[in-house]
Formats: sequence, C-alpha cells, structure tokens
Amino acid sequence: MSVSDNSNSLKQNFAPLKNDRLLRALRFETVDTTPVWMMRQAGRYLPEYKATRAEAGDFMSLCKDTARATEVTLQPLRRFDLDAAILFSDILTIPDAMGLGLYFETGEGPKFKYPIRTQADLDRLPTLDVNDSLDYVMRAVTSIRTALNGQVPLFGFSGSPWTLATYMIEGGSSKDYRYTKGFLYSKPEFLHQLLEKIAVSVIDYLDAQVVAGAQILQIFDSWGGALGHRQFIEFSHAYNKRIVAELKVRHPDIPVVLFTKGGGLWLDTQADSEADALGLDWTMPLDRARQVLTEQHKPLQRKKAVQGNLDPATLYGSPETIRAEVKLMLDSAYACGEKTGYVANLGHGITQWVNPDNAKVFIDAVHDYKL
Ligand code: CP3
Repeated sequence: MSVSDNSNSLKQNFAPLKNDRLLRALRFETVDTTPVWMMRQAGRYLPEYKATRAEAGDFMSLCKDTARATEVTLQPLRRFDLDAAILFSDILTIPDAMGLGLYFETGEGPKFKYPIRTQADLDRLPTLDVNDSLDYVMRAVTSIRTALNGQVPLFGFSGSPWTLATYMIEGGSSKDYRYTKGFLYSKPEFLHQLLEKIAVSVIDYLDAQVVAGAQILQIFDSWGGALGHRQFIEFSHAYNKRIVAELKVRHPDIPVVLFTKGGGLWLDTQADSEADALGLDWTMPLDRARQVLTEQHKPLQRKKAVQGNLDPATLYGSPETIRAEVKLMLDSAYACGEKTGYVANLGHGITQWVNPDNAKVFIDAVHDYKL
C-alpha cells in the first residue's frame, strides 16, 4: 500500500496543533506575537546538520533517509523558538524523479546529467506518479508530522515550474539563463510545453504532501525575478496561479505561500491568484507591499498576507544590528495599523556562513517586539 492510501487514517491520528500563530496570522486573526521561521532553516550553518549529513553520505541520500530527514528538520526547532517546520527535501526532487540524473558537485551546487534541450528530451519526460517515484518525500512528511507532535505546523513545498525549468534546461544553477531564455525568445512553445509538464507534477506533488501531513505549502519561485515583467506573467505567474487554484479545489483549508524572489515590483500581478500570502525578498519595503496589496484587494478574493523579508546577510552583523533591523522591519510590516497578516522570515535562505547564535537573536527579536 502506498503512503497516500493510508495517510488519511494516519492524518486523523496526528496530534492537535499547539502553536497556530502562523496559521492565525495568515487568516488575519489576532496573534499574541509575530510568527517567524527561516527559509533553509535546516542546513549547513548548523554543526549538527553537517554531522547528520556526513552520516547519510551525501545530500540526496539524506533527503531519502526518512529518519535522518526527520532529524535534520527538527534540529533548528531544538535550538530556536520557531513557529513552523519545513520538510527537509529539495525543489530538484521532481526533475530527479523525471530521470534527469541529479548530482551535486562540491562547491558548484546541483547538476543534471541529462538537461532538456530538444523536443526528443521533452517527449521522453515521464508523467510522474508522485506516490511512486517520490514516495520517500511523502514518507518524510508523515514521519516529520508525527515527530512534531503538534509543536508547530509543517510546511510542504515545491519549486515553481519556471524555477524548475531553469535548472532542467541549463543543467544546473545559472547566472544568465542562456538556454532557458534562448527558448523563451526563439521557441516559446517549447518552453510552454515543458512548463505545462512540470506544473502537472507540481500539483500532484503538493497534493500528495498534504495527504501525507503537510499543513501549509510554499511555492519557491526563486528565479522568477530574472524574467522581464511581461515574461513573468506568461512564463511564471500563469502557472503558479493555476497550481494554487487547483490546490485550493483539492485542499481549500491548506494555506499557500507564494515566494517570488525579485517579485516585489509585481505584487499586483501576484495578488491575482488564490495564494494566502506572498513571500518577499529584502528589496521590497513591507509597508509599501501591504499598501499595494490593500489597494489591489478585490471583494471576492482572498486577502493576502505578507512574509519576509530580512536580508539574510543581516545575520553577519552584530546582535545589536540584527535587533535594530528587526525592529525596523516590524515597524514597517505593521505601519498600516493591522497587527496581523504578517509572517516574519528572511528574504531568502539562511546561508552556510551564519553563526547560529545570530539566527537565535533574529528569532527572539521578532517575538520580543511589542505588537
Ligand atoms: O528550508 C529548509 O530548511 C528546507 C530544505 C530546503 C533545501 N532546499 C535544502 C537544501 C529547501 C526548501 C530547498 C529549496 C531549494 N533548493 C531552492 C529554493 C529556495 C531558494 O533558495 O531559493 C533551490 C533554488 C534549491 C536548489 C538547490 N539545492 C541548490 C541551488 C543547492 C545548492 C546550493 C547550496 O546551498 O549548496 C541545493 C542543495 C541544498 N538544498 C542544501 C540544502 C540544505 C545544501 C546541500 C548540502 O547539504 O550540501
């Protein structure tokens, strides 16, 4: 029996949630203090993460090892007073399951042995049965949710079709997106075919994570900001919007956070979706973001909360600097006078060079702020 067959019964046995601050903030209900978590909160800045990863051998083996993936998810929660956990996995699990041959070269980030460059490459891409080829992800979700025992809500996640397509076409990380943008401007229908295939798998993947126990979802459009504004609408947002809409049909009560790095200028575009919250990087003032979202709000649409957006490099500064920047961030987030509808976070993932003590200063400063 696959995980999805029995997870509904499992789900009923999950412990009730003890800390629902983050879910309350997304619903614009009152909160006792500001909820906070960090993108990439489980990772190499923690010595205990490095030790567990060394035991697993390599990064993908760690993702596929249910007990160790659970352990590294919980590590930051033991150190810090976080208001959410996030599944330990990666956005590149989907292209890996599609057969692109993911591997990690030390110091160079992810690589694919078989990038998508031709129609034949594209036609070979399988339609994924996520409960089969990505069953290890669903097992991790259920294991983490059980281990959390209701402490905080658990995020599931996926990359956006656009962000995943850049890795699949380039064959790894990229600064200029040479091949992906080449297709965008010379063979747009080719790129659309790929985005379409990815979108179908992203919907099934996030759906299956919810069935396995995820209580909230985030879509990482990490490279959406690399697009031109018209191209963002056509090649990224259109797919994200469809994914969120479909998830809302399947799981109306599961909140969805849409994070587009570099997407601050396009909040009006992103507001045109059923996402519950928009994630922001540090280039966007939070007071301005909330103002734009209030102006864009349409009567029958879901009111959009915001999440973010401290520059992760702030954590290289002194505790005094971190506290001062957190205060400015929260003053800005609450400048509208509404003391909810906001989740504190970094504007992108925490880096491997941060001293964990400084991450603690950040989280405690958020909670200490008087609403
Ligand atoms: O947030 C969390 O704690 C959950 C785990 C998580 C990882 N990757 C673990 C990881 C999440 C949510 C991701 C998402 C992810 N992966 C994104 C989107 C978020 C973002 O940063 O914009 C992207 C673009 C990737 C692709 C990826 N995975 C890259 C570019 C790299 C290498 C870069 C690096 O930091 O080394 C990875 C590997 C990766 N994913 C690591 C971790 C902890 C480091 C691997 C290691 O242990 O060596």
